[in-house]
Amino acid sequence: MSDKPSASRPPDSRPRTGAGAPDSATGTACLPGDPDPQARIARILRVDQAGEYGARRIYEGQAAVLRRGPAARAIRHMHAQELRHLERFDELLVERRVRPTLLQPLWHVAGFALGAATALMGERAAMACTVAVEEVIDEHYARQAQQLGDDEAPLRETIETFRQDELAHRDAGLAHGAEEAPAYPVLKAAIKAGSRLAIWLSERL
Ligand SMILES: [Fe+2]
Ligand SMILES: [Fe+2]
Repeated sequence: MSDKPSASRPPDSRPRTGAGAPDSATGTACLPGDPDPQARIARILRVDQAGEYGARRIYEGQAAVLRRGPAARAIRHMHAQELRHLERFDELLVERRVRPTLLQPLWHVAGFALGAATALMGERAAMACTVAVEEVIDEHYARQAQQLGDDEAPLRETIETFRQDELAHRDAGLAHGAEEAPAYPVLKAAIKAGSRLAIWLSERL
């Protein structure tokens, strides 16, 4: 990672337009039009609040279908943690004067629908959904934590703490039989692709 100023960036190293495309000059995710570090922090907070909101809705969709048994208990526990994550990002949006994503109404419906649909396929499919989503969030948080410098140490620590919770959620999904879900590789790949698309969109809108 180099700390070269962007003005000296060679023309062929301009930021790419893909999700999380690294800015080769700074090593941080940068999108065309990100004017300054503050805009970058706003983007991080907006997508993270969106992600936690979506996670909350997924577990609410699952909890609406699965009401009893060990899987339902695990879902309630993970839901409670997502509420805490969401609450913290809600506070940070206010503190840093960042607007939430415009897509929140979409995540409200799509998150719940994904949770309910997978739960209707069975407990193991619900857990496969958890594994898929939490793996994507783990990668996403790991990338963000790497990008944040010491000037944003508290935010970096928050993200790192939440990432550990998300990894525990993934492990809970595996412990509750995610890998035995019908068509597990296909289901997991589809949900991961959808989660990455949701991140990509929430970073931009
Ligand atoms: Fe979370
Ligand atoms: Fe989670």
